[in-house]
Amino acid sequence: MKNFKDKVVVITGAASGLGREFATVAARLGMKLVLADVQRDALDRARDELAAQGASVVAMLCDVRKGEQVQALADAAIDNFGGVNLLFNNAGVGSGGLIWENTEADWEWVLGVNVWGVIHGVRIFTKLMLAAAAKDPSFEGHIVNTASMAGLLNAPAMGVYNVSKHAVVSLSETLYQDLQLVDAPIGASVLCPYFVPTGISQSHRNRPEDVRMTKGPTASQLVAQAMTDKAVTSGKVTAAEVAELTFKAIADGQFYIYSHPGALASVQERMEDIVQQRNPGDPYKATPQVRDILRSKMKLGAGTPAE
Ligand SMILES: NC(=O)c1ccc[n+]([C@@H]2O[C@H](COP(=O)([O-])OP(=O)(O)OC[C@H]3O[C@@H](n4cnc5c(N)ncnc54)[C@H](O)[C@@H]3O)[C@@H](O)[C@H]2O)c1
Repeated sequence: MKNFKDKVVVITGAASGLGREFATVAARLGMKLVLADVQRDALDRARDELAAQGASVVAMLCDVRKGEQVQALADAAIDNFGGVNLLFNNAGVGSGGLIWENTEADWEWVLGVNVWGVIHGVRIFTKLMLAAAAKDPSFEGHIVNTASMAGLLNAPAMGVYNVSKHAVVSLSETLYQDLQLVDAPIGASVLCPYFVPTGISQSHRNRPEDVRMTKGPTASQLVAQAMTDKAVTSGKVTAAEVAELTFKAIADGQFYIYSHPGALASVQERMEDIVQQRNPGDPYKATPQVRDILRSKMKLGAGTPAE
């Protein structure tokens, strides 16, 4: 996708962090914006700020776990702006701790937002874009799914998130291949950020009632929360920078988008483990003291029932 001016962009998780910055860049490029989130006050604030800068913007409460709400989002984009060119399936949440300690509600919530949100987005919006392309030979579309480096690695004590983001990478690669197969004028990218300062480590702020925490937190969940808080807040690459490089990648038709290409050395090692049939490598080999601290803290939680 080369031309952004007057095109329509839909962004999920648009009220905070990366989504909010995608909206800023899109507005600057003269796009018409459809913003979706579950946090009403932050969403309204984003809409008002962008509208004050002269953007055409519609904001809609939308829980991406629910297919009917994602369909309503697509309908709103058509009603307001006549179609959709660019989609960011970006809404995401996290939950950490030893993988057997996560509750059914943890799995439902994280997979609901991170995986089902992207499934609904791809299922509903790709067909809409294909229909527009069939009518208009000049149609250009693009879909960006926000995964994570956690979709290419499997760090300990963040299993639910890892599983969800690996699914997003798989879904995105397949989407790319399927679009190529039918020669669609629609591009696809997967964004794999490393730690970027946003609200992600506080995503429980918007955890819905129907998947509320039933027990815990366990010791490992507390340790994971502290680790994630520290890693996210001390990230050096900003969300604004990630948004800029993402739009450049869209214009260049680039599929894999990384905020921290230096972290790919660990991906390379994982791939080598797989093809050499070696057991998964030690994530703490350079920092064994970190493993020792984590072990001692997590032992406090041994036997803590999660449910
Ligand atoms: N920040 C990082 O370090 C990092 C790293 C890798 C991947 N990511 C991914 O980036 C994406 C954006 O997250 P962020 O870092 O900007 O965090 P963020 O918390 O600042 O923004 C996420 C937004 O998603 C919204 N949201 C939560 N549940 C929702 C739902 N059910 N439906 C619609 N919206 C919902 C939240 O209200 C929030 O506004 C996520 O997919 C996240 O997993 C972030």
